[in-house]
Amino acid sequence: MRIHHHKAHVFPDGFLWGTATSAHQVEGDNIYNDWYYAETHNKLKVKSGHACKHYEMYEKDFDLIKAMNNNAHRLSIEWSRLEPEEGRWNEEEIEHYRKVFQALHKRDIKIMLTLHHFTVPLWFAMKGGFEKTRNVKYFIRFVKKVAEEYGDMIDFWITINEPGVYIYQGWEVAEWPPFKKNKFTAGRVYLNLALAHRLAYKAIYKIVARKFDRLPEVGIAQNMLSFATYRKHGLIDQLAVWFSSKTANHGFYMLTGKNTHDFIGINYYFRIRLKRKKGTLKIEHDDVSSQEREVSDMGWEIYPHGLFDVLMDIRDYEKPVYITENGIATRNDDKRQRFLISHLNEIYYALKGGCDVKGYFHWSLLDNFEWHQGCKQKFGLVEVNFKTYQRKVKKSGIIYGDIAGKNKIEHKYFKLLGHHVKL
Ligand code: BGC
Repeated sequence: MRIHHHKAHVFPDGFLWGTATSAHQVEGDNIYNDWYYAETHNKLKVKSGHACKHYEMYEKDFDLIKAMNNNAHRLSIEWSRLEPEEGRWNEEEIEHYRKVFQALHKRDIKIMLTLHHFTVPLWFAMKGGFEKTRNVKYFIRFVKKVAEEYGDMIDFWITINEPGVYIYQGWEVAEWPPFKKNKFTAGRVYLNLALAHRLAYKAIYKIVARKFDRLPEVGIAQNMLSFATYRKHGLIDQLAVWFSSKTANHGFYMLTGKNTHDFIGINYYFRIRLKRKKGTLKIEHDDVSSQEREVSDMGWEIYPHGLFDVLMDIRDYEKPVYITENGIATRNDDKRQRFLISHLNEIYYALKGGCDVKGYFHWSLLDNFEWHQGCKQKFGLVEVNFKTYQRKVKKSGIIYGDIAGKNKIEHKYFKLLGHHVKL
């Protein structure tokens, strides 16, 4: 890739620069949810344990965010802490999160709060979780409680993180709780999540407007994939791209309706190459590592331009857009630096192309518990020593802080991409 621009890429005033985390991945000692149960009942090979001890160390972590000149942060609230048993609210935990949000306010950091980030209380899972439409009411009761308690403190609400990934991992490949392979149930969970989102949207509006006289901003974090095919001339191949993008990227929006989203939240990680065996209708995901392309430690193709593609694709929604997650698992920080700069560049180009991107949340602040892969995958801008819990900002974190503070990518950073660099 050759970059010949000599001017900085300046972002719009008020652009939000942040990082994203989720409770179970960083807090540690979350013992009342379905993941903990799976971790301690031989259903998973890994344990979250103390994770990053963020539950105790959040002030310190927020200082790091501040030092990185961030003006926003995305985090999730753990339902199973607030309601460890059905119908019993834990007042201490309610106070804990109030302190967490205050700690962010004190540092002038806007809050994007996720209500469902993959984990659910064990009691809820035991009742069938989101498999049962009648259980949606429990989630809504929790959402109402959160809105009542903190409605004046939250700037952006994410009702559900990646509904598609949740059903894929839990009910299709069955790597995550509840470890069931059943496409039909997966579909039902998806529909129930759509219902949960619609009801949560209304509930948050009602409470925040009535009690706090303020208009909330509510959306979801949607995993968006950039789909491609080798055969530009093949109608079936092109149809497969269309169908995949329509269902995986736009399906949840179609089910919930655009008027239940005040903004579009996008998690972008990689591109998928669809491959059709000649003479058959069978479409599969191609493994591009066989082409010796550079992939992340997760095996995901590094493809910055895909972020531009998905941003331009949702431009027609005519809503503000936030990149709610984007990042790379790698032990090679040079690679992370290139990933960061090249993806931020694509956001800049999408802005120029008319997409109303308002903010970027890098996944993740800390090296953390990467679900069934445990702590071996390193997504953090900040390194965590899992023995001492010491934090160390990586060079990528320093660069991110510099870009956030100046609200621009200076020319010197383009050089990191180099000439003819394989990204
Ligand atoms: C999820 C995160 C996860 C990240 C990297 C996203 O799908 O929201 O929880 O850690 O991707 O796999």
